This record gives sequence, structure tokens and C-alpha cells, in this order.
Amino acid sequence: MSQEPSEPPTRPLRPATVAVTSGRPPHEPDQPLNVPLTMASTYVAGGDVEYGRYGNPTWTAFEEALGALEGGRALAFSSGLAAVATLLDLVGAGTKVVAPRHAYNGSIMQLADLEARGRLTAELVDVEDTAAVVAACEGASLVWLESPTNPALEVADIPTVVEAAHAAGAYAVVDNTFATPLLQRPLEHGADLVVHSATKFLAGHSDVLLGAVVTRDDELFDVLKKRRDLTGAVPGTLEAWLALRGLRTLHVRLERAQSNAQELVRRLREHAAVSEVRYPGFGAIVSVVLAGGALAGDLLTHKTSLWVHATSLGGVESTFERRRRWRSEPSTIPDGLVRMSVGIEDVDDLWDDLAPALDDLTEKRPG
Ligand SMILES: Cc1ncc(COP(=O)(O)O)c(C=O)c1O
Repeated sequence: MSQEPSEPPTRPLRPATVAVTSGRPPHEPDQPLNVPLTMASTYVAGGDVEYGRYGNPTWTAFEEALGALEGGRALAFSSGLAAVATLLDLVGAGTKVVAPRHAYNGSIMQLADLEARGRLTAELVDVEDTAAVVAACEGASLVWLESPTNPALEVADIPTVVEAAHAAGAYAVVDNTFATPLLQRPLEHGADLVVHSATKFLAGHSDVLLGAVVTRDDELFDVLKKRRDLTGAVPGTLEAWLALRGLRTLHVRLERAQSNAQELVRRLREHAAVSEVRYPGFGAIVSVVLAGGALAGDLLTHKTSLWVHATSLGGVESTFERRRRWRSEPSTIPDGLVRMSVGIEDVDDLWDDLAPALDDLTEKRPG
């Protein structure tokens, strides 16, 4: 039976509804509910796309959904670091970039590499020291924020820093990977650009590498699209499709993971093996500093069965790792810091798995 196409609602929708409804084919008879996987390296000539490096309907659907959630226009990239590299390429040769000393170490390593090659100078700051960040903005061409930071979980004063960046004539960028657009929308605070490792919470199932940039500035959007066309740092079609499928449940996953994280923070704060719990009050990442240092961290991450010893974060399953096991991690991150990515399992099962491993550490500590 044929049906009249239904009009999309004109009233503004709340984020959970946007996550479910955006980036869909039109509600018309025989249209699929979900955008199909378009496997195409080339298109029939005469249209807007022409070639697989310039666009793909499956990427576009993901970009529409993420853009709607962040309140801007999104471009997907092959990974978070491909997106980061494209943004760092915006700055003029020899100019200054301000960035958090505890930003994701891949971003810091890109900055160090560009600096070593004379491309730019990087000034690393403590993002929680707002006065120092504001002072560092002077003479900068780009101010990079990550908030909360990975893995120190420091939180920046985004509106104040964005204002200082703009006063200095610099772009303000926020890596929003940890908060996601459901907990923080930096473009609403004036940021020029938001960057994501969509590999993490947005896709949410530890099976995809994907990055994204979002902006409200049409000129910047065109520059970045051109850079993506030229460098070929484009997403795979399947990756964009899986990430969009993951995005549909972001709100329910994050709600559950966050409530698990909050409960675990309460319990971890009471445990003698833990000397410090770092948690900004929101999100699903918790960092604990173990009283027994590096050894305790390494023991802990090998003693559980539900908690998986693995890098990365933001999946439905709980994972953890001692960050300083990576030589590239800054020495200002405590040796015994274990970053925990809290998943959506039952919180009591997570605790029942973790608590005996923590108890063991306390027993082994010399008295
Ligand atoms: C905050 C943050 N930004 C960027 C990245 C890089 O993303 P990708 O691994 O998708 O290249 C990561 C990866 O861990 C991250 O945690």
C-alpha cells in the first residue's frame, strides 16, 4: 500500500532524538530506514561527487548526524589523528600553537614532530590554569584545547580560553572526544572547530577507526574539505556506516557508562590501594593513581577477567591500562596512573571483578 511521505518535524529536537533520527534517508515509500553502504570509487560523470575521494553518501549520513549533534557542519576523516593533522596544517609556517601538556599523546607527538621540522612552535600549558592559558594565547595562531584531557582528566574553561584565542586572532579548537556532544558543545561557546576521535564514544564498539571535524564557519569547512580531498585522509565506507550505527545509541550508552563510572568512583575513593581518583564529575573515563605505583598498575591490569587490559576507550566494554607503559606518555603523568574506560556492563559485576584485584595490591604492600 502506498503511503504519503511524512514531513520531518520543524520544532527543535533534543539530542537523544537527534542521535536517532538525523542522517537518515527521506521518509518515502521503499526508502530504506538506514543509509546503505555505498561501495564506490567512482561515480557516473556529471554530478557533484565524481570520484570516491571527494565524497560518499554513507560518509555524508554520518557527517549530517554528528553535525546536527555538535551544532555545525562535520567532515569525517580516516582517523582522529588524520583530523588532528589536517587542523594543525591550518596554521601559517613558523607560528605559535598553544596546547595542553596532557592532551592525547598522539596530538602532542604531532606537535613535537612539526616543531622539530621547524613548521611551528608549540607552547604546552596546564589547561586548568586558565590565567596561564590566556597569557599563552598572546601571539598564537591556534589554541588547541582538549577537555577533559586524556588521561589526566583536567577540565579547561572553554569560553574564557576561546575569547582569549579570538582576541589574539587565533583559531580555537576543542578535542571533544571524551565529553561527546551530549555532554559539551564547544561550538556553542564560540570554538571555531571541534575535533573527534570517532573511534571512541561516537562509534562506541571498539571496531572502527574514524575521525571528524565540525565547524560553523563555511570558509573553514571548504578549506578542510579541500585538504581532505588533496591528502586523501578519507574514511572507509564501512567505518562511517558502523560509526553512524554506533551514534544511534550514544545517549543510552553514555548514560549507563557514566552512571557506572560515578558509582565506581565512589567505591574506588574508599579503597586503600588507590591514592587518588581523577574524575571530572561527568563522562565514562576515570583515572586512578595506585599507591603501589607502576608495579601495582601492571599487576592490576593483569588480574581481572571482565576488565580487559587494552588501550583506547569509549567502547561498550570496560577496559583499562597503565598509561606510562607507553614511552611517549609525558613524565608528568604519574607512573601508577591507570586509565579506566567504564563500559555498560552491570556495575556490581565490574566492581566484583576489580575489588579483589585491588585488595591483593593492598595485601602485597610492604607494611
Ligand atoms: C582525545 C583523543 N583525541 C584524538 C585521538 C586520536 O584518534 P584516533 O586513534 O582515532 O586516530 C585519541 C585516541 O586515543 C584521543 O584519545
